[in-house]
Order: sequence, then structure tokens, then C-alpha cells
Amino acid sequence: MNAAIRAVVRTGIERGFAVIGVRRGYDGLMEGDFVPLAARDVGGIIQAGGTVLGSARSSEFKTEEGREKGLAALRNEGIEGLVVIGGNGSQTAAHALSQMGLAVLGVASTIDNDVYGSDVTIGVDTALNIALEAIDRLKVTASSHRRATLVEVMGRECGYLALMAGIAGGAESIVIPEVETDPEAVAADLRAAYERGKPHALVVVAEGARYNATELARHFEKHRDRLGFDLRVTILGHVQRGGSPGVSDRLLATRLGAAAVDHLARGEHGLLIGVQKGEVVATPLGEVVANRKPLDLGLLELARVLAQ
Ligand code: F6P
Repeated sequence: MNAAIRAVVRTGIERGFAVIGVRRGYDGLMEGDFVPLAARDVGGIIQAGGTVLGSARSSEFKTEEGREKGLAALRNEGIEGLVVIGGNGSQTAAHALSQMGLAVLGVASTIDNDVYGSDVTIGVDTALNIALEAIDRLKVTASSHRRATLVEVMGRECGYLALMAGIAGGAESIVIPEVETDPEAVAADLRAAYERGKPHALVVVAEGARYNATELARHFEKHRDRLGFDLRVTILGHVQRGGSPGVSDRLLATRLGAAAVDHLARGEHGLLIGVQKGEVVATPLGEVVANRKPLDLGLLELARVLAQ
């Protein structure tokens, strides 16, 4: 997100705007927690994870009163346009503000990669690399002890992180919310790996799956003998966030942030800036919030074939 903030500030200044940062997300917006941002203020942040402006899960901004309050704070400060860097929750509120007459541009940013209108969102690549580093380490331990390792990754209701981390990490079994999975099918995958003489087996499970790591572990507790392997469970949780962004994320965030300002400068708004087939594209926010991004479930079959 910092790379996107930097791009918005410096491109904005180049286009003749005065740029003001909103601290603490929509909570700060309602309270008028604004800070003028000059080019030097965003120096040295491109390599930092998270956001120097802060963020919030604002329940008040989900209400009409909250959004009216935010809009009034913006107007009071003479702010004419807003760039919202965030995932589905942020973009839903961005759409609402746009419907209320504000010039709003969304920038697709979440590790979950579940925002319609962008093939990939800011943070996904870095989060995946962090998950993979953990998985690679867990496999070393699992191999040494001839165990199965079960790793839960984040993603809310979306299985993208689990699917990609599973394929890139060489998982024997992947469990995602988009596909109803019987825990006995996971047990069969582990058993098959054991019988083929593998020194370890990896299960990657999405936090949003009905059988997440906790539920699978509970199930296997009673049926441990069916697995062959002894099993250890790791829930990665927030460790997947906050890492220093890799080159893909820095470039993506920079391109999206700059494009958002370019649209504002042309008087185009009510759009989400994302990337499709490598090109920066703008999708109406109304379309973004009304649609669910599909996951390529064909990759599950690829993962199955590669787990032999
Ligand atoms: O949306 C990003 C995300 O990291 C999800 O993957 C996860 O479920 C959620 O946020 C965690 O939210 P919080 O940081 O509020 O606990």
C-alpha cells in the first residue's frame, strides 16, 4: 500500500493537485484526520509493508450516517477527489461515496485477491511468498520426521492464496471454500502419499473452508491411523501480512496508484483501477461490488496431477 500512496502523491503533485492523506482509513476520514503530503513525505516508504497512513475496520462507515460524516469532513477540508486503496470492504464504501457525488477512484489492494475487476491485487504476491517460505521450512521438518504438515493460510471466503500456495509449495491436498471437501478425501490423499513412500505430505487449507485447519485437525484426531503419517498443524495468520513488498507488488502498486490519479485528472471517477492481462484497466465500482471474482478451479486438477 505504501508504494501506491507514494505513486498517488507524486503523480498527483505532477498533475497539479494538492495531495492530502487520510489517516486510519474510514475512521480517520469521519474524524477529519488529514495530513498534507508532499513528495518528500513519501520518501523511503516503497520498501515498507503495511501503510504509513494507517488503516481501520470501520463499522461506523458502513452506516449512511457514517458516510455522511465522512463526506462532510472531506468537503469541510475542500477535498474534491478520493483515492481508496483497499479490498472489497473498502471498495463497497468507495462505491457508496461515489453514489453520493464524490469523485472516487478505487485501487485494488488485498492479500485475498478477491476483488472483481483485477486479476491480481496489491499484496497478494508478497503474502504468497511469505506463505511459501513458511511452507518450504515446514516441509523440511516434516521430511525429517516423516510427518504430514497441515498449513492454514488466510483469504477470507476466497481460496486463491491456498490454491496458489498449495501448487507452488507442492501440496498433496488443497482445501478451499469454493469446493466442498470431505475430510476423508484429505485423509485419502495423505494415506496415498504415505503408501507411495513419500517422506512427507503437505495439506494447504484456506481459513474460509468449512473444514479449516482446526476442523480438519479435530477430525483427524479421531482417525489418525487413517493418515499413515503423524500430523502437525500450523496456522500462518497475520504473519502473511506486513512483509516488505516484492518487486511485483511495488510495480503493481505504483502503476495502479499513478493510473488512479491520471483518471482523476481527466475527470473520470467511480472506477476501480486494477490490472487485467497485464494491462491497467478501470472497471465501474458498481460492477466491482456487484460481482464475485471467479477462481480458476481447473488448477485444483493440476495440483492433483502434480501431487503424484
Ligand atoms: O482481507 C485480508 C485479511 O488478511 C484476510 O485474509 C483475513 O481473514 C482478514 O484480513 C483478517 O482481518 P483482521 O486483520 O481484521 O484480523
